[in-house]
This record gives sequence, C-alpha cells and structure tokens, in this order.
Amino acid sequence: MDRWKTIVEPFRIHSVEPVRMTTVAERSAALEVAGYNLFNLHADDVLIDLLTDSGTGAMSRDQWAAIQHGDESYAGSPSWFRFLESVQELFPFKHVIPTHQGRAAEKILFSVIGGPGKAIPNNTHFDTTRANVEATGAEAVDLVIPEGHDPAAIHPFKGNMDIAALDAFLTSRAGDVTVVFVTITNNSGGGQPVSLANLHAIREACDRHGVPLFLDGCRFAENAWFIKLREPGQGERSIPDIVREIASLADGMTMSAKKDGLANIGGWLAMNDDALAEQCRNLLILTEGFVTYGGLAGRDLEAIAQGLREVVDEDYLRYRIQSTAYFGEALAAAGVPLVQPFGGHAIYLDARALLPHIPPLEYPGQALAVALYREGGIRGCEIGTVMFGQHPDGSEAPAAMDLVRLAIPRRTYTQSHIDYAIEVVQYVAERAAELRGFRIVQQPSALRHFTARFDLLEGS
Ligand code: F0G
Repeated sequence: MDRWKTIVEPFRIHSVEPVRMTTVAERSAALEVAGYNLFNLHADDVLIDLLTDSGTGAMSRDQWAAIQHGDESYAGSPSWFRFLESVQELFPFKHVIPTHQGRAAEKILFSVIGGPGKAIPNNTHFDTTRANVEATGAEAVDLVIPEGHDPAAIHPFKGNMDIAALDAFLTSRAGDVTVVFVTITNNSGGGQPVSLANLHAIREACDRHGVPLFLDGCRFAENAWFIKLREPGQGERSIPDIVREIASLADGMTMSAKKDGLANIGGWLAMNDDALAEQCRNLLILTEGFVTYGGLAGRDLEAIAQGLREVVDEDYLRYRIQSTAYFGEALAAAGVPLVQPFGGHAIYLDARALLPHIPPLEYPGQALAVALYREGGIRGCEIGTVMFGQHPDGSEAPAAMDLVRLAIPRRTYTQSHIDYAIEVVQYVAERAAELRGFRIVQQPSALRHFTARFDLLEGS
C-alpha cells in the first residue's frame, strides 16, 4: 500500500446526491439575505458543506440494508438488542441508555451529577457539554496540556489532559468533583487525540481521589487510530482492542453516534454504576422515551449497530485520517496558517494569523468563513470570537483563538472536492489583505453564533 501516494477512497459510489453550482453573484445575494451568518444559508446554495462532520456523513449499503431490519416495537425491539450488542462489543459498560444525540446524554447525566458547587474537569469541554454542565449551576473546567492552547505547537497527543493540573484540582476541590471527563478526540482543541498513557494516568489520578472517569467518545475510532499510529508499542494492535482498553479505563461515557457511529442521528449514555443508571433511566423516560429506544426509531438503532462495525475498519480509518492530512498538508505548503498537527475530522484555519489587519472584535474568523463561501461556495464554521466572545454578563472579549473549522463529513466528498477546496482557500488566502471585518447588528443573549446578523465594515 505504501508504494502509492494517491489516496484511494475505500468505497465506490452507489447513490449520488446532486450539488448545485452557483455564481459569486448568487452567493453574494444569499449572504445578504442571511445577514452574513452561514448558519442562515439554504444548504442548496452551498457547494461543499464543511460546516460539521456531525450527522452529515454517507451511510453504507449495509447500513441502508440494516435499516430495512428496523423493528419498531415500543419495548424490547430486536433492533435494540442488535444496537446493545454492537455498543458493548467495543464499550462493555454494564448499562447502555440510548439517546437521540450526544447532548441528550449530557443533559441527563449532568442533571443527576451536576448542580451548584459541583465542578467537572475535562481536557476541553465541547460547547454543548460545557453548556449542559453550566445549566445545572456546576462549573466546567478545561485542563488540557499547555500545547493544546497553541495552534502551531507540534505534539502527537495534543488533546492530553495536564495530569499535574488535574491532581491539583482534585485536591483543591475535593468533594466537589462528581466526575472527570475526557474528550476523545479533543474537538474544541482542534480534533487532537489523547494517548493511552495519558488515559492511564487520568485513571490513576481518579483512583487516588476516588472520582469516576467518563469518556466523551464521539470520535473514539479516530482517536484509536492515532494511538495505533503514534504511540510506542501500539502499532500491531487491532482498533477494537485499543478501543476496549480505553473503555476499560473508564466508568462510563457519553456518545454522539452522528460522528464515529457513522449514522445521521443517535447517541448513548453508558455506565457501570447501578444506582446512577437507574436515575438516568428515569430521566430518559421523561424526555427521550422508553429505555430500549430513547428517542430513536428502531431503524436508527440498526444503522448505528452496523456503523460501529464499519468505523473500526482499518482501511476506512487510514483513508479518513490520510485524507484529512492531505487537505492540511496542501494548505500548509501554500503558506496558509493552520492548527498543527492536523486533527482527525477537520482542518482549522488560523484566521487571526492570516488576517492581522482585522482585530478580534471585528471577527477575522467570520470574515474568512464568509469569503470562502462567497468565492467558492464552501461553508466552514467560525470558531473564535463570534462563538466564544460573548459573556453571560453582556460583555465582549476576544476568544483565545480565531479559527475557521473545515470539518469533513465521513465518506461524502472525493479527493477532487478537496482539491477544489484547497484551490479556493489558497485563492482567498492570497487576497487576505482585501478582506474586511464585520460588526454584529443583531444577537441573542447566548450562543449568538447560530443566529446573529452581521454588517460588513467599511474599508479604511
Ligand atoms: N461532544 C463532542 C466532542 C462533540 O463534538 C459534539 C458535537 C457533542 C459532544 C454533542 O453531540 O451534536 O450529537 O448532540 N459536535 C458537533 C460538531 C455538533 O459540529 O462538532 P450532538
């Protein structure tokens, strides 16, 4: 395999979805209607949609076939048992509670173990995880290693937890921490993996302090592939074997099957603790549904069960990680500033470095994301001062970084789509000095990035 440098997608296309070609003039008009917020676009007006890798991937022939086996019995459906078996094959937790997506699992768990005075450390909380912790009055604390905050720092496991900081936190807040979380891979930190050695060290710290450890497992298969590639002594192991070792270090997990479940919807909450599981199941019945479907149709459970078998396939993971790196390497070679090393599911452009003439409070990430759409019909996602600069007291401050995430849906775009995206990013980067910042003309009191409206600032 190593003889050839071209990435061969390990699938053929069986069913196609048309994408609509648009002109710069049409996209400029669409941007005006959308108030320059890419979440407000009609997706038909997007050529290559890199907004998220969540629920946007292509399902396989075997997943569509499994959907035909979906059994919609309210209780005890055979589809539920196939789902359960597939989840426990990789994550042998005693209790598995199905949910409609990841944040529903978070909401249920933190409703039980959060609350005022409590604190939940994580390498980096994803925004819904943080919001669900904070909604209960608890504190969400990020303890990633220092390299995890520096876009240009090279480290093989940039998602690792800072063990000394975790130990100190567990000592100073003894009694307040109801769970330690670790997000694999670390999405908010650039899709960066966590090493097995770090997971063992987190487990030991949790044992020293008598606190349970939970995984946010959304991209567990990509994380396991990075462990196989980069961690000494792991190269000969199978991916399921590595995943089971990761699971054995934890007491439970939350999961969005919209990522490494290779499904368009779904998730779960799992744990070993009987009493905690009972409380979570009672909440599940209130909001999601009965304990054997939890907000999903039987056919969705089937799609996830099959997706979990496919996502640990090495041909798939090699292609997945290589094709993300291909995108990043081409942009790096063209001198575009990026978060390095490249994550598993996305490339993160460093808009603050590319657009030094646009101050953070004029939203360089927004300027770059809008330009990529206007010039080439590519939709990415600002992850910077628009997303994180608004504070609950109404004040505004620059975020730590101003990035644009180009997330890659699984098994969906070909190498020529990515070649085109490379061309567009390069074209926009060469004209970066011409871009102007934005001001916000309308925004809600929280999570403004979804609905805010913007106006282009006049050039000086
Ligand atoms: N945890 C992580 C690390 C995530 O990336 C996400 C979702 C969730 C939890 C929540 O899962 O969407 O199924 O409720 N991330 C998506 C993204 C939305 O675009 O990165 P969900």
